[in-house]
Amino acid sequence: MTLATPRLILRRWRQEDRLPFARLNVDPAVMEFFPARLSAEETDRFIDAIEAYFERYGFSLWAVELRESPGFIGYVGLWTVGFHAHFTPAVEIGWRLAAEHWGHGFATEGAREVLRFGFEEAGLDEIVSFTAPANVRSRRVMEKIGLTHDPRDDFDHPNLPAGHPLGKHVLYRIRRQEWTEGHRVR
Ligand SMILES: CC(C)(COP(=O)(O)OP(=O)(O)OC[C@H]1O[C@@H](n2cnc3c(N)ncnc32)[C@H](O)[C@@H]1OP(=O)(O)O)[C@@H](O)C(=O)NCCC(=O)NCCS
Repeated sequence: MTLATPRLILRRWRQEDRLPFARLNVDPAVMEFFPARLSAEETDRFIDAIEAYFERYGFSLWAVELRESPGFIGYVGLWTVGFHAHFTPAVEIGWRLAAEHWGHGFATEGAREVLRFGFEEAGLDEIVSFTAPANVRSRRVMEKIGLTHDPRDDFDHPNLPAGHPLGKHVLYRIRRQEWTEGHRVR
């Protein structure tokens, strides 16, 4: 399943995406709010898992390309939350772009289309997103696409040890009805 926006193509992964994705996954700027960078092997396993997820669910984390200059620049997509928390089971929307492409609205543009796909085509009832409180860029994308934050939903990531500097997380969410209503008034 390929998705398109005015400036982006969101598509299945190709062999030639592996190297640029591995580079992105060791960039300290990109990985600032993740507990660890990924080795080349971990990147390969991640891509294999993303593709297996596509086969199973018909959606996943899409590889992103610019229409104007083809070539992998990152991902935007949907993923089942892989840990237990007060808001799970849940599907999250997420994004990771190469730093040289930040600041042009690409994550927001791709995420709006992914959100539409999630509600209109995948039939999801709710989509969540979460990050460390200091990840203001990502939080801004969540807000721009219509997700809202209730501080009572904030949680400590269960896969990180107590007191880890990245342990505390803010949760954003949007229900299908809120998304539909948001579109009616726009
Ligand atoms: C998060 C990420 C995908 C955003 O990509 P992007 O294409 O630059 O995002 P957009 O341009 O659509 O929107 C970014 C918003 O953050 C704002 N922003 C950027 N830096 C900021 C800062 N230091 N403080 C406050 N806002 C900031 C931008 O101004 C923009 O908002 P605006 O349109 O209201 O001006 C990108 O930074 C990234 O890949 N980060 C590393 C991976 C990551 O953290 N992923 C999320 C994990 S939950």
